[in-house]
Formats: sequence, C-alpha cells, structure tokens
Amino acid sequence: MKKLFLVMILLFCFLTGCQKKEEVKDDYDLDYFVLVNKLNPLPEDWEEKIQTIHMTNSIGDDVEVEKRAYDAYLLLKEDLEKEGIFVDLDSARRSIAAQQQIVDDFTEKYGADYTAKVVAVPGYSEHHTGLALDLYLIIDGVDVVENEDMVQYPEIWAKIHEKLDDYGFILRYLEGKEHITGYAYEPWHIRYIDNKEIAKEIMEKGITLEAYLGAVNETDVVLDYGDSRLFSREELDEAFIRIKCRFASWKGVELNSLKFAGDECNSEENLEWLNSLEEGGSYLKAIEVLSSFRTPKEGYGTLEPDRIYNDYQWWLVCGEDGDWDIVSSGY
Ligand code: DAL
Ligand code: ZN
Repeated sequence: MKKLFLVMILLFCFLTGCQKKEEVKDDYDLDYFVLVNKLNPLPEDWEEKIQTIHMTNSIGDDVEVEKRAYDAYLLLKEDLEKEGIFVDLDSARRSIAAQQQIVDDFTEKYGADYTAKVVAVPGYSEHHTGLALDLYLIIDGVDVVENEDMVQYPEIWAKIHEKLDDYGFILRYLEGKEHITGYAYEPWHIRYIDNKEIAKEIMEKGITLEAYLGAVNETDVVLDYGDSRLFSREELDEAFIRIKCRFASWKGVELNSLKFAGDECNSEENLEWLNSLEEGGSYLKAIEVLSSFRTPKEGYGTLEPDRIYNDYQWWLVCGEDGDWDIVSSGY
C-alpha cells in the first residue's frame, strides 16, 4: 500500500511537472512584429519572454535563434536544398556585448561612418530579438560568409527571397529603402514575423516593416546624378546611401530627393577646407549633395517644424579606401 502511495505521488509530480512545461508554452506571447531599428530599441521585457535554441553551423560557431524562427528556418533550408541552394546561419540572436564587439571591429577596420551604414548600435539591433537571421551561402561545398563575397551571387539571393514568405520571413534591409531602414541593402538578413500571409503582403508590395507597421510614410527618394565626368553612378550611389542612412535616424523627417551638386564641388579649395575640418585630414575627393525634405509637425532638433527644406547641403569626402564619409552638413 505504501509503495502504491509513493508511486501515485511520483506520478502526480511527473504530471504536474509536465503541465508546468505546457504552461510556459501557452504563455509564450512574443510580439513577432516588434520593430527594432535606429529609432526603436529592444523592448525592456524581451529577455524575460523570448525562448531560444542553440545550433552549431557548418563553421562550428554556436548560433542562438528564437525557437519558432528556427523551426521555420529549417523548413526554408530544406525547401532551398531541393533546388540545389545551400545556406547556413551566420548569426541570429546577439547580446549587447556581442553587438558592441562588432561595432568596435568594424569601426577599427572601416571607420565610424561606414559602420553606421551596416551595423546597429548595441540595444538597437534587430539581432537582439532572435528573430533576425543572417544567412550565408554554401557553394560547391565552400562556405561563402564574407559580405563582399556573398553579394556576388544576386541570382541565388533572388531565389532565396522568393521563398521567404512561405515560411513567415521577410527581407528586412531593402535596396533603395535605406532612408527608411537606416541600413544598406543586406540580401542575407531575413526577419521572422510568424505570419505567412502578412509576410507575403510585405514581400509582394516590396515595402519595409516600418511602412507595414505605419511607423513611417514610405516615399521613394528622387535621385539626381547630374552628368558627372568625375564620379561614376556607383560612387554617387554610395554617397547617396550614406546620406539616406543618416536620414533614417531623423525622427519624422521625410526625405524627398538627393541631388549631386556638380563636379565643380571637387575643387582644390573645397578639398583644402574639408581637410582642415579634421586633424590630419588627407581626403582625395569631395562631393556636395543637396537634399530636399519635410520636417514633422513637432520639428526635429534645430530644424523648423512642418517645413520643406530645399538644397540642404551635405559634404562628403573620400580617401584611398574609396569610402565616402559625411564631414559637414547644413543649410
Ligand atoms: N546589420 C544589422 C543592421 C545589425 O547590425 O543589426
Ligand atoms: Zn543581420
């Protein structure tokens, strides 16, 4: 009899233990539409809510991912493999310290301005959510991990992007939408939203998560390259992206157009002036870009509220590395 009692108690403990696990599952109410960008930090209660899993990628790195996002990723991966496309996870959830390390490494290697174009400030990275996944490609059994190598395969990325919404993912940093997302185009950075229908809508419309959530008025920026004989279209595009990324952190400001001011801005005199702005400045080229934008009703910084600014100036310089840096701006 005593034995039976013991067995019953053990059985009870086992069952209630199982129920507790179930309870955690039922209470799992993560906001899969959470917006984390240059203006919106990771919500404070996120760490308490998120449930993650750890996996090891083909390089041997540990990668932590939100659990539902990981299940969806595995299905996407399986589907892609049927078409001969092989991917793995480079990075998903990142701690504040890990993000800081990336910022430090990039700043040392490429400078602060370039870093701001491609890496989020700790606390403001979508990677903290565990819902942002950076893929890398495996081509003929070789891991293709570096950004500059991955961008060499636009056709493969296009095939991957076509399938994202079937598994509840969207592409987060779109080409041409840098003024909204705040970052340059990243074909590898996908975002799980746990809703295939809405993912389909976002992907078909080609809009940003910001626009879907109504956080911004998504307008296209008119780009005027002029007829430069000194700068290629790619060079000017890089400079435009740099400025667009800056606008994404100007809350409520709507960028309308960017216009290259003309080859004459690259004069000896201007270079001398721009080089004098920084200690030991030794830039080789300079350009001026004129922007047109509208400020919000509540204003932004020292800009006047509810006003259209035309010909707001941006000065960018570049040295031997060929990367543009913003060194001066104003009206
Ligand atoms: N590369 C993205 C913007 C991040 O650092 O979160
Ligand atoms: Zn990423």
